Amino acid sequence: MKIIAVANQKGGVGKTTTSVNLAAALAEAGREVLLLDLDPQANASSALGVEAVPGRSLFGVLTGDPGARSFREQIQPTSCERLRIITAELDLAGCEIQLAADAHRLTRLRQLLENYRITGAEVEFILIDCPPSLGVLMTNALAAADSVLVPLQCEYLALEGLAKILEMIERIKQVSGNNALKLEGIVLTMYDARTNLSQQVVSDVRQHLGSQVFETIIPRSIRLSEAPSHGKSILSYDSAGMGAQSYRQLAQEFLKRQTD
Ligand SMILES: Nc1ncnc2c1ncn2[C@@H]1O[C@H](COP(=O)(O)OP(=O)(O)O)[C@@H](O)[C@H]1O
Ligand SMILES: [Mg+2]
Repeated sequence: MKIIAVANQKGGVGKTTTSVNLAAALAEAGREVLLLDLDPQANASSALGVEAVPGRSLFGVLTGDPGARSFREQIQPTSCERLRIITAELDLAGCEIQLAADAHRLTRLRQLLENYRITGAEVEFILIDCPPSLGVLMTNALAAADSVLVPLQCEYLALEGLAKILEMIERIKQVSGNNALKLEGIVLTMYDARTNLSQQVVSDVRQHLGSQVFETIIPRSIRLSEAPSHGKSILSYDSAGMGAQSYRQLAQEFLKRQTD
């Protein structure tokens, strides 16, 4: 079982879109996948058509509520075969305050996932859709993860943003004691082939980070932005379109990297 945090402290860069559609593409490719929605906004949950309801998130188990459903009991099926989800809810935002005085607050999720692993996890990959704020939830995700996948929007100052997140990953590795955390790779998103800016960003980022950047680039596509409002991954919403092709390709590249 491998745990991948999809993270970038900036909002609107394609974290949720990438978590949902990469998870769906891995499931389509025959892998058992769990998507963990750790953003109180619950965008990944609704994007897959799973309603965010009170009591159905990791809030209870993360904060040690004795009446809460266990990690395993929080897992729900989605309409995609082999893809399961643990939904988020607004209450998750309360983790910040609830856990403030807890000495183990940064490694709560790590403990839950380790327990899930040793008691027989039925999935091969866990993808964590992180919130943008650099708080206790994102830190828990990075403390629990084997690797971090960073979506990066092809926009002005992308490289500066990237430097910041790489720095932040290093810092979290230290505070959480997760020295084994690896960079899974950087995924360039919302690429617009018609603009010089997009092309410039791709070449700059590749020049600085070389093979750490996925070859697959996610294009800007209206379909990708429409799919969530239909509660479907891009693979079911527009299966033959460019957006679906690009996430399938990303999944293949991701899988190939696991064996290289
Ligand atoms: N490749 C893309 N093409 C077009 N729109 C996109 C693409 N990726 C994401 N979006 C849209 O951009 C917005 C932000 O994306 P999202 O995945 O929610 O980012 P984050 O989770 O980092 O905040 C959403 O409205 C989403 O639908
Ligand atoms: Mg998001």
